[in-house]
Amino acid sequence: MSPAEPLIQLRGITKTYGSGTAAFLALKGIDLDIAAGEFVAVMGPSGSGKSTVMNLIGCLDTPTSGEYRFSDVPVHSLNRDQRALLRRRHLGFVFQGFNLLARTSAQENVELPLLYRGLGRAERHAAARAALAEVGLAGWEHHGPAELSGGQQQRVAIARAIVSRPTVLLADEPTGNLDSARGIEIMELLTRLNTEQGITVLMVTHEPEMAAFARRIVRFRDGRVESDQRQAAHAEPPLETGHAPAITPSAQEA
Ligand SMILES: Nc1ncnc2c1ncn2[C@@H]1O[C@H](COP(=O)(O)OP(=O)(O)OP(=O)(O)O)[C@@H](O)[C@H]1O
Ligand SMILES: [Mg+2]
Repeated sequence: MSPAEPLIQLRGITKTYGSGTAAFLALKGIDLDIAAGEFVAVMGPSGSGKSTVMNLIGCLDTPTSGEYRFSDVPVHSLNRDQRALLRRRHLGFVFQGFNLLARTSAQENVELPLLYRGLGRAERHAAARAALAEVGLAGWEHHGPAELSGGQQQRVAIARAIVSRPTVLLADEPTGNLDSARGIEIMELLTRLNTEQGITVLMVTHEPEMAAFARRIVRFRDGRVESDQRQAAHAEPPLETGHAPAITPSAQEA
């Protein structure tokens, strides 16, 4: 992939939910390029298609028509197993509701994505502890979600998302359940992961205060991209942004 190639390329993406008279066109033709190392906020009214497009980029769902290339790989042509591999290797997810397993320690929650990777126990423990330390939760490894604040639970969810060293972090309203101060802490953490580790961050938010941390704001309206604006970064951009993954549909590992 040449540096000029976008990491994520959407062309004419449509998504129809349901069929017949109940059919609903949630995405009406999305064209979007995202380069490695970007920090993008996705905004727009409720129902405008933000989560739908995140789920497509995250390989949790497939478009009805159009083309999606990830690092030049035509994702729209991959089968279900190939998409699952791409997801496990390159994509991390954070959701509004944290989605942690109850009665399961922070460390065990963070280790979950590594179970697919065939890592040994000791390696899994070490990687999970390192990820928890990265999000400021060293010492909280053995606490369960019920013993953690909302902000801490979201940090565990971020540790779980980054423990497998994803290329892209997809966050759908990651601060939606948090107060403003806790939300800003999460934004500072995402900014750090973006600038220091070169993780490409794509985040949905309704809050301008949170979107201000991104360097680009894409606004959706009624299933289309309404506007796409770049803005000055909160922090100085890193000297070297992003890390381009080398993948092909045939050369993937579990
Ligand atoms: N599984 C589904 N089945 C049917 N319709 C759906 C489904 N998921 C989403 N939709 C519809 O598609 C449209 C876009 O939904 P989407 O969840 O992408 O919106 P959104 O921009 O994320 O909104 P919000 O800000 O409320 O989260 C909505 O009208 C929604 O009702
Ligand atoms: Mg949504």
